[in-house]
Amino acid sequence: MERIEGILDASRSDDEENSLRPLSFDEYIGQEDIKQNLRVFVGAAKLRNEALDHVLLYGPPGLGKTTMANIIANEMQTHIKVTTGPSIEKTGDLVAILTSLEPGDVLFIDEIHRLSKVVEEILYPAMEDFCVDVVIGKEASTRSVRIDLPPFTLVGATTRAGDLSSPLRDRFGIISKLEYYDQKDLSKIVDRTSRVFGIDMEMEAKQELARRSRGTPRIANRLFRRVRDFAQFNGDQTITLERTHEALSRLKVDHLGLDDVDHKYLLGIIHRFKGGPVGLEALAASIGEEPMTLEDVYEPYLLQVGLIKRTARGRIATEEAYRHLNIPLDLPKS
Ligand SMILES: Nc1ncnc2c1ncn2[C@@H]1O[C@H](COP(=O)(O)OP(=O)(O)O)[C@@H](O)[C@H]1O
Ligand SMILES: [Mg+2]
Repeated sequence: MERIEGILDASRSDDEENSLRPLSFDEYIGQEDIKQNLRVFVGAAKLRNEALDHVLLYGPPGLGKTTMANIIANEMQTHIKVTTGPSIEKTGDLVAILTSLEPGDVLFIDEIHRLSKVVEEILYPAMEDFCVDVVIGKEASTRSVRIDLPPFTLVGATTRAGDLSSPLRDRFGIISKLEYYDQKDLSKIVDRTSRVFGIDMEMEAKQELARRSRGTPRIANRLFRRVRDFAQFNGDQTITLERTHEALSRLKVDHLGLDDVDHKYLLGIIHRFKGGPVGLEALAASIGEEPMTLEDVYEPYLLQVGLIKRTARGRIATEEAYRHLNIPLDLPKS
C-alpha cells in the first residue's frame, strides 16, 4: 500500500483541525511553563483592565501556536483577528487591519517572519505607541498623518525565530518557545481526541499512537483519524493496540514516527556523504527536497531524538541513526 502523501508532514494543516482545538488554558495539554506564565500575564492584564503585552510564539509546526493564540483571546475575553505574514502585501493592507481593531483585541499574525520589511516597519510604532503614520496626498503636497490605534495585543507565530529582525523581536514583551510534547502529554492529547470524536480506544493503543507522532499534536490527531478509519472499517467497537499497529504499519510510519523523507534524509547522509558532515544545501539537492522544508519540518525532530547532529561543518548522522536504520556502524568510510 502506498503511503498517504504527507501524513507525517506537520506543516500541512487540515480542515478537521478546528474542531479539535482546545479553547482554554485548562484544556490545552502540556507546555506547562508557557501556560503558567501566560496565565499570570493574562490574569494581571485583566485585573489592570489593559491589553495583554505582545506575545511571540515560536517552534516547529503543529505544536499548538495557532491554538494558543486563540486561547489567549478567549481567556482575555476579546476578539481575535487572524492574518499571515505573506498575505499582507502592502503597508495599506496592514494599516487597514490595525485601524479596524477594537480596544483589547488580539491581532494574530501567523508566519510573522515572512512580513516584508516595509510592512514590518509599520508594526514598530503600532506595537510600541499604538499609532501608525500614513502618508497622504500626492507629489509635492504629501504629508504624514498619525493615526492613533486602540491598545491591542499582537500575537506573532513563527517556525523561525532566527529570521525575525531584532527590532521586531525586541517589541514582544512575552516570547515563548513551544517544545515537542513528551509521550505522556501526547497520550493525553490522543485521549482527548478520542473523547471529542466519541470513540473508545485502548490505553496501550493511545500510548503507541503517542510514541509514533514525533512529539507533535497535529500528527497525533491526524494518525488518530486514520487509525479510526481502519478500526471502523473493520467494525471494531474499540480501537485496539493490535489494530493501531496494523494501521500504522500500513501507513508506513516507523516506530519512531519517521516517514520516508526522514529515511531519505538519513540514508542520504549515510550513503552519499559517508555519515557527514554535509552541508544542508548539498544534502537537500542530493535527495530532491527543499532545504527550508528539511530545516523547518524534518531536522528539528531528528535532532530532538538524537539521530542527527548539527556541527559547524554540517550535518552528521549519529550512531543512533545507524542503529535505527539497521545499518552496520562499520560501514566502510572510504
Ligand atoms: N496543547 C495541546 N493540547 C491539545 N491539542 C493540541 C495542543 N496543541 C495543539 N493541539 C492540536 O494540534 C493541532 C495543531 O495545532 P496548531 O495550533 O494548529 O499548531 P501550530 O499553529 O503550531 O502549527 C490543533 O488541531 C490542535 O487541536
Ligand atoms: Mg499554526
